[in-house]
Amino acid sequence: MREVRRLRSVVIRWIVACACVLFGVAWAAEDRRALDEIQKYRDMLKDGNPADLMELKGEGLWTTPRGPKQATLEACDLGLGPGVLEGAYAQLPRWFDDAGRVLDTESRLIHCMTTLQGMTTEEAIQGWTRPGSDMEALVTFVATKSRGLPIRPSQSHPREAEMSAIGEALFFRRAGPLDFSCATCHSLDARRIRLQELPNFLDPASARESMIQWPAYRVSQSAVWTLERRLIDCIRQMRAPDADYGSDVIVALQMYLQRQASGGVLEAPGIKR
Ligand code: HEC
Repeated sequence: MREVRRLRSVVIRWIVACACVLFGVAWAAEDRRALDEIQKYRDMLKDGNPADLMELKGEGLWTTPRGPKQATLEACDLGLGPGVLEGAYAQLPRWFDDAGRVLDTESRLIHCMTTLQGMTTEEAIQGWTRPGSDMEALVTFVATKSRGLPIRPSQSHPREAEMSAIGEALFFRRAGPLDFSCATCHSLDARRIRLQELPNFLDPASARESMIQWPAYRVSQSAVWTLERRLIDCIRQMRAPDADYGSDVIVALQMYLQRQASGGVLEAPGIKR
């Protein structure tokens, strides 16, 4: 009788173990299938990324006299000299003597719009949360001029290293009512929330895969988002205090992320969920 009971318990254990393995395999296959479908969707959209329209709009804004001074942005220095666009995005953020700050693409554009065109900061960034905003268009235009070039944020000024260190500290700093840090969601492999994979920014390959695509057309938003907008939204999701557009917090985080992604060849504008 005892033998029969032992045999039965062994059989039951085997059945449970087999069921668990089968369930695990099916789960992993389902996960893979979902990611494959998203990739197919991205490949399809690549032929006609709606962000291309933003690039055209951005070019128009770059070359049209605007603001109280009725100047174009063609003399804007994005770090490689006035009007030089090729490769500039790939090397931002960087230190700018004339501003006395480390700036990313958005904050440098704001600087040019206020100094060259005479706009206020509010005018420069107006409507930045609306699809098709001027800032979205300008950043897309500037970023496409670095497509095919490696991400290489400037490393020529001590304040750049300082900003990167601040960005790194912010990345790991837990804050807000949920006690989240960026690392809570972005330091693990193969994670996703809803249908979007979460990059692990501690892994250079994963960081590159993410950063080469920004600015990106977000299908769920029917809009191009710049990296600043993406970061500001993650901060909002963390329930941390709002970060201002163009602020040092955002520039520091970007500096850290771009350094993690150094060497990644830009494909911007990309396509995201
Ligand atoms: C609660 C989890 C969570 C936290 C905390 C979080 N994020 Fe995110 N992050 C996400 C999700 C989810 C997405 C993808 C969003 C989507 O597509 O809906 C994302 C996307 C991103 C992306 C774009 C990734 C891509 O698809 O290429 C970047 C960059 C990013 N986060 C940076 C940060 C930074 C920096 C912080 C800290 C300030 C942070 N995130 C905090 C969940 C989080």
